[in-house]
Amino acid sequence: MFNGALMSLFTLILVSFIATGCDSSETTKTAALSPELQQGKEIVEGRCFACHAQSINGAPIVGNKKMWKTRATQGKAVLVEHAINGIGLMPAKGGFTDLSDEEIGLAVGYMLSQIKE
Ligand code: HEC
Repeated sequence: MFNGALMSLFTLILVSFIATGCDSSETTKTAALSPELQQGKEIVEGRCFACHAQSINGAPIVGNKKMWKTRATQGKAVLVEHAINGIGLMPAKGGFTDLSDEEIGLAVGYMLSQIKE
């Protein structure tokens, strides 16, 4: 009886300890991102990084302020339109035509968030 109670108490403490541990590390990693930015980040890292991680064909590198400075002044709406329809050596939607216009908007939103101070 006593052993069983002690065991479950121990398990409870252990579980909450592990849960708290996971929580705090998760929080420090993702707390700064809103759901929109988190979704945008996943699209950018999963798709757009094919070119935008290394400047393939001259694609502006995500997080590189110098490369984005002039582009960003066009405003988000224009950038999203260019990303949807394609621009220069970037094909429409980067070639990922399965992405919705809304998803492109989320991705561009994340790209812009990476060049803010
Ligand atoms: C096949 C390579 C490639 C992929 C994949 C790609 N891009 Fe691009 N992207 C480019 C290139 C190249 C440019 C520069 C085009 C230019 O200005 O001539 C560019 C430019 C841009 C710009 C700046 C447009 C402007 O008006 O200055 C945005 C925004 C952008 N890409 C968003 C995205 C998003 C969002 C994705 C993922 C859904 C993506 N790109 C995927 C190659 C790519």
